[in-house]
Amino acid sequence: MPAATEVRCDVKNIGLADQGRTRIDWANQSMKVLQLIRKEFSKSKPLKGIRVAACLHVTTETANLAITLREGGADVVLCASNPLSTQDDVAACLVRDYSIPVFAIKGEDNDTYYQHILAALEHNPQITMDDGADLVTTMLTKHQAKADAVIGGTEETTTGVIRLRAMAKQGVLKYPVIAVNDAMTKHLFDNRYGTGQSTIDGVVRCTNVLLAGSKFVVAGYGWCGRGLAMRARGMGADVIVTEIDPTRALEAMMDGFRVMTMTDAAKIGDVFVTVTGNKSVIGQQHFNVMKDGAIIANSGHFNVEIDIPALDSMSASKRTTRDFVEEYSLKDGRKINLLGEGRLINLAAAEGHPASVMDMSFANQALAAEFLVKNRGKLEKKVYSVPEEQDKRVAKLKLEAVGVNIDKLTPQQEEYLASWSEGT
Ligand SMILES: NC(=O)c1ccc[n+]([C@@H]2O[C@H](COP(=O)([O-])OP(=O)(O)OC[C@H]3O[C@@H](n4cnc5c(N)ncnc54)[C@H](O)[C@@H]3O)[C@@H](O)[C@H]2O)c1
Repeated sequence: MPAATEVRCDVKNIGLADQGRTRIDWANQSMKVLQLIRKEFSKSKPLKGIRVAACLHVTTETANLAITLREGGADVVLCASNPLSTQDDVAACLVRDYSIPVFAIKGEDNDTYYQHILAALEHNPQITMDDGADLVTTMLTKHQAKADAVIGGTEETTTGVIRLRAMAKQGVLKYPVIAVNDAMTKHLFDNRYGTGQSTIDGVVRCTNVLLAGSKFVVAGYGWCGRGLAMRARGMGADVIVTEIDPTRALEAMMDGFRVMTMTDAAKIGDVFVTVTGNKSVIGQQHFNVMKDGAIIANSGHFNVEIDIPALDSMSASKRTTRDFVEEYSLKDGRKINLLGEGRLINLAAAEGHPASVMDMSFANQALAAEFLVKNRGKLEKKVYSVPEEQDKRVAKLKLEAVGVNIDKLTPQQEEYLASWSEGT
């Protein structure tokens, strides 16, 4: 293993490694499924000699995934999937204690963000791991020849899967990608309970706002939005949902939330959070009617859900009032508070999802990498779902880890469910 000083990297401060190590170990305690996979990987070495470039949020949970991949024999490099989501102590520890090259600094500017992705691509990966598809997109636009060596990729989030499906449709995707996000053991838990809890955590940590009695507007009632609305209600907020999909809007209504257009919600909301994966969900027409002191944040993948250039152009001045809080003073005297530069607030101002939920997401990532190697050369250049047996295995292992037993089908029940002849 090379000394830490020989490891290629761009991290904030290697001196933070001790703190990173303690926090990585803390997360590991709640990642029992990944621990099991790591144990298996350390014996079977399914990724032996495989070069992996992972573009993920550099958090304690991601560190445990990177360590697991390395235990499986992979040669891993890591870069950030968002300029604000890196935990600098974790990056330092991975470099110093695990000799894993990391290119990520919290608060890096856009140019540095892409330089870091390019640095990860210098590794000539055979597997790419993405959270938002920036790694694969950068490879295909700037270094297409490198795609020839790639066995396959994995994708962590809804927005990335949407981008990859668009690439496959246009025939520009150069290798198979597994949509980890679409596994039941990923989006049902990570997007819903993970985003639900950690988004509230991010908003509260940076503002200390009282949610009880506040009007809390959730834009988008998908997996993340459902979790966020549920948790905001749990804190006593009066939750309003906005949607563009009639079925999801109905679901929100029957789940007991008020549903209205953003134009109507903008007039009454105290706190707004977008989780749509779409752009300009909150824009000038909404800022025009918002209450003085409104708080707006985003927990969707990219920082385009809130039209920040419009907010800038409407403002006479802005100042930082707290960490991750920008107060925009509008020309008419109202103030609007933008959190975390409109980037995913749960990672910008808090620590992202709890380790226990990332356990399942990253178990799927590790097993997807193993699947890609096992099926090397047999897959088409398209987006694949996680195999159902893998999804079920992760659920089963998680239940075992938390000590929950469930019933098994009896032979008669199996027969009944497989037959059509038995009625009343
Ligand atoms: N913050 C995190 O840690 C985290 C975690 C997982 C996913 N994500 C990201 O969050 C976003 C949402 O993910 P998801 O899994 O909930 O997706 P999803 O597809 O399940 O839900 C998105 C919802 O937004 C709605 N929508 C689209 N445009 C809208 C608009 N203009 N106004 C109101 N609603 C609109 C859609 O109809 C859909 O119901 C994605 O960008 C995803 O990548 C973030």
